[in-house]
Amino acid sequence: MDEELIRRAREAREHAYAPYSGYRVGAAIRSADGRVWTGSNVENVSFGATLCAERIAIGAMISGGERVVKELALATQDGGTPCGICLQVLSEFAEEDTEIVLDGGAGGPVAVSLAGLFPQAFRSAQVRRTETGS
Ligand code: THU
Repeated sequence: MDEELIRRAREAREHAYAPYSGYRVGAAIRSADGRVWTGSNVENVSFGATLCAERIAIGAMISGGERVVKELALATQDGGTPCGICLQVLSEFAEEDTEIVLDGGAGGPVAVSLAGLFPQAFRSAQVRRTETGS
């Protein structure tokens, strides 16, 4: 369990914009090159326009030139798990055994694997994929 990553997720949670749900989320990703990328949830009065913390962190990682998530820490008020859309997006850039640390529960941080939360991600071989992503 990466303590720095948990601390960075907690910090990002402080910046969450969640006036509608009051549920603040902070995410921190350690990419393969060792750098850390963070995200906070950004809500909107048009609720469907809300952005989750994890996908903002993934977007930061991609725009910073990285492609591989080594570990994710998620800070919430109750140790909540990533939503289904975020798990699918995470599956694009992580392995089944990639560690996800859920922080904020009464018992302290808990480590789970991506496959533990999302055992059957959509990864159809029928969909064309290029090596570079471009
Ligand atoms: N939220 C996230 O940021 N990540 C998740 O994986 C679950 C949900 C946010 C969206 C919304 O701002 C709030 O949590 C309540 O759903």
